[in-house]
Amino acid sequence: MILVTGARGNIGREVVAGLVSNGQAVRAAAFDAAAAKRVSAGVETVHFDFADAKTYGPAVDGVERLFLMRPPQITDMENTLNPFVDFAVKAGVRHIVFVSLLGVEGNPRVPHYAAEQHIERAGVPYTFLRPSFFMQNLNTTHRAEIRERDEIYLPVGRARTSFIDTRDIGAVAAKVLCEDGHDGRAYDLTGGESLDYYQVADIFSEVLGRKITYKDPSSVAFLISTVRHGTPLKFALVMQMLYRSTRNGIADVLTEDVSRLLGRSPRTFRQYVIDYAESWRR
Ligand SMILES: NC(=O)c1ccc[n+]([C@@H]2O[C@H](COP(=O)([O-])OP(=O)(O)OC[C@H]3O[C@@H](n4cnc5c(N)ncnc54)[C@H](OP(=O)(O)O)[C@@H]3O)[C@@H](O)[C@H]2O)c1
Repeated sequence: MILVTGARGNIGREVVAGLVSNGQAVRAAAFDAAAAKRVSAGVETVHFDFADAKTYGPAVDGVERLFLMRPPQITDMENTLNPFVDFAVKAGVRHIVFVSLLGVEGNPRVPHYAAEQHIERAGVPYTFLRPSFFMQNLNTTHRAEIRERDEIYLPVGRARTSFIDTRDIGAVAAKVLCEDGHDGRAYDLTGGESLDYYQVADIFSEVLGRKITYKDPSSVAFLISTVRHGTPLKFALVMQMLYRSTRNGIADVLTEDVSRLLGRSPRTFRQYVIDYAESWRR
């Protein structure tokens, strides 16, 4: 049995689909208790909350392998993800596949760093997936500005990002969970091209058939605008920090790990915009 946390999220739903098509027994953990019942047809589901230890037992019962993801809302590893890892290991989990962050090994300030360290010490085989920025940020976090204002509003200048499609991360995770040979490994997951946001805006304009413009605000203007459009200050500050790193070139890294693991090229940004075009139509 494989437990998938965040099973309704961007990556989690792809992991569930990949495992099911591989014939694996899957248990999908959903935070939203009502939605837990409808993750995917034929998949066992369970209500799960990192902050509520009472939900741990039913989630890990009989589980051998764990797909672990830190929900973006959770920053307190000590009282959430870490106790769950300890509980899972005691309950018999024998392999943990954790979604981390590209460049985490050099950035102790991000929560994923502490999470990796804790998992390394937990005493079971693990695999870290360290993805670059998700293409899917553009149809979630940045959807409204593209759909309603025809703009992409980020303070990164001409810096490049090696965007990855979460469908490819999910496919990598499913593969790593299904086969041997990935213990103790860390994979840097990037797309096959590194783009700046002017190029991103051009791809959007071509595919959607209307002009999308990249605006390059100052970091402070970005923070004010993001909060004004409804993002809580705490998350707006995290976004500001992440985009500051992007501006400094940290997201401009290309690796071969996705093609090596999947035996095909990663999805392109253009293909992503084509596949999700309805998200930005008015
Ligand atoms: N966005 C990026 O560019 C990027 C890049 C690299 C790494 N990452 C990392 O990738 C991870 C995934 O991010 P994401 O934005 O793709 O996530 P996401 O799709 O928003 O999924 C988050 C999931 O967490 C679940 N969840 C929320 N609170 C929970 C709780 N208290 N207990 C248990 N589950 C809970 C939600 O369950 P329900 O659906 O049931 O509510 C949801 O399925 C994060 O750690 C992020 O830092 C992101």
